[in-house]
Amino acid sequence: MSVGAVLAAAGSGSRLGYTVPKALVPLGGEALVARAARGLADSGLVRRIVVTAPAAYLEQVRAAVAPVSSVDIEVVDGGATRQASVASGLRALGGSDGVILVHDAARPLASADLIGRLVAAVRAGHPAVVPGVPVVDTIRAVDDGDPPRAIATPDRSGLRAIQTPQAFDADLLRRAHAHGAARADSEAVAAGDDAGLVEALGIAVHVVPGEARALKITTRHDLSVAALYLEEDA
Ligand code: CTP
Ligand code: MG
Repeated sequence: MSVGAVLAAAGSGSRLGYTVPKALVPLGGEALVARAARGLADSGLVRRIVVTAPAAYLEQVRAAVAPVSSVDIEVVDGGATRQASVASGLRALGGSDGVILVHDAARPLASADLIGRLVAAVRAGHPAVVPGVPVVDTIRAVDDGDPPRAIATPDRSGLRAIQTPQAFDADLLRRAHAHGAARADSEAVAAGDDAGLVEALGIAVHVVPGEARALKITTRHDLSVAALYLEEDA
């Protein structure tokens, strides 16, 4: 079962607030999208990567990932939402892979170990596998009041914060996206990520241990935390 990957990198990075899209923001001298692509390539498991980029930055993203030469990489236009970007990447990936990883350029430090765990779980027969880390804060559900009123407090031991990469049986992921594209916008928001689209088909999603270094870079502070991981690696 060969492994293909879609690397979602078509967002603007509005919360990070650089003039270039988040995927092109440097971390330790290398663009986030290049680091994320290198991580997938260095796992030794991935045959081909399709990167979805903002339409106006295709050439810049191509140049950024060019040094990652150990796997076949194609850069294509993304879409208006992350889900549309992943769908665009899936079309460009073609149909020959048995396993597909969906990853975010915004998580540039996900490790080869993590990628190995995810792919192994799919190959062991779990068709949808995501990384999850225990949550440290108490999470309360709130209503839509102003201020909101807390209405429920799920037991924290039963909660995980979900990361990427996420790994899927390829046929299932394509079916989930076809189903997701046909649904109302409100439901699409509720689905959240690719695993959410799979769950909407009634298929169970399995959770393997995630890792702190696969943090998502949303703000400048996150970028500083990621730089600390690089210092620790050095
Ligand atoms: N993404 C994408 N296409 C979109 C929106 C997001 O491919 N239309 C990608 C981003 O490039 C990122 C990942 O999805 O790698 C996770 O999204 P997020 O962290 O929200 O990134 P941005 O949308 O770029 O950031 P912001 O929400 O702050 O604008
Ligand atoms: Mg976003």
